[in-house]
Amino acid sequence: MNQAYIDNVMERLQAKVDRMIEQIGSKCPHVAKEDGKYDDTPSHAWTSAFWPGLLWIMHDVTGKKQYRDAAWDWDADIEQWFAKALVGPGQGLHHDVGFQFLPTAVIKHTLTGDEDGLRRGLEAANFLTGRFNLAGGFIRAWNMDRIGWAIVDCMMNLSLLFWASDVSKDPRFKQIAIAHANTALEHFVRPDGSTNHIVVFDPETGKVVEALGGQGFAPQSAWSRGASWAIYGFANTYRYTGDIRYLEAAKRVAHFFLASLPDDHVPHWDFRADHLESEPRDSSAGAIAASGLLEIMNHVPEAEARFYLDSAKKILHSLTENYATWDQPEHEAILLHGTGNKPAGMNIDVSLIYGDYYYVEAFAKLSGWKHRIF
Ligand code: GLY
Repeated sequence: MNQAYIDNVMERLQAKVDRMIEQIGSKCPHVAKEDGKYDDTPSHAWTSAFWPGLLWIMHDVTGKKQYRDAAWDWDADIEQWFAKALVGPGQGLHHDVGFQFLPTAVIKHTLTGDEDGLRRGLEAANFLTGRFNLAGGFIRAWNMDRIGWAIVDCMMNLSLLFWASDVSKDPRFKQIAIAHANTALEHFVRPDGSTNHIVVFDPETGKVVEALGGQGFAPQSAWSRGASWAIYGFANTYRYTGDIRYLEAAKRVAHFFLASLPDDHVPHWDFRADHLESEPRDSSAGAIAASGLLEIMNHVPEAEARFYLDSAKKILHSLTENYATWDQPEHEAILLHGTGNKPAGMNIDVSLIYGDYYYVEAFAKLSGWKHRIF
């Protein structure tokens, strides 16, 4: 994949995203199924910020105002949920406020100096620190009765805490991020580089109770998107701390991930599902991992960096050639063949807004984008 190819994809993405702005309108997109139309989820969902985040990247890369205008109001929209008590599974803000405020409030403040973005980013960071369990050293996942649960995905939320310490000069935020990362290092990354999705701790003593399969096939299987969150999240934690253990963890998971890929470089939803050949792919896991590999690349010597760059490019080339909707202008998504939650029977072989986001983010990185959202 040479520079001309990357430039061409960025040009095609501009045309595609211009069209998506018309098609998506005021919707809060998460999933697009066979009809090619994105759904409209309530903005407390963990996925609510990927569309505005994608727009902020397009604005930063192109300088075009239409992307900024379409992204502008989203942090105010999501902020309203802090004031609403929501009960029931899947309801309300939780550990994923990093996924929701980094691609909205924080990048908005970074790019424009907007004071409300700063305030909302810090509000989200305060909320996230309040979810820390001191006995177990983890940020608890979700709401309701899952009091001692922690998940690998949460590694991606830590950037919010590192950012908050940077802007406030208050180390409490990063201290909690580091404590959570250390727990994840010990209990989520297995010796072979595969990862647990959920680890349940006793919330009083902090002792490990069990690991659960969660969105993966089984407790000891290897959910591919969980691996991609670990690759990217540990690489970010290294960027913020300089602690080599996190970079080594990111590399270990990356090597497992890359060694487990099928011939077309786009992962099945779980690398250890039975009868793997007939299982669906998860294009979002491929896009997230590619963007994470491009982060690792920045922190290793040149000879090693080539490996991570080439590996990311192979995934992105396959996504571009075999998984994208270029020839379906009415389709509102960029990527096909994502898998949200196979064990729950939810969102299998669909388009996922976070797949689109990380695909755009990875190509933006390849074309020289220097700001970071995560
Ligand atoms: N953070 C939830 C997921 O990856 O599905």
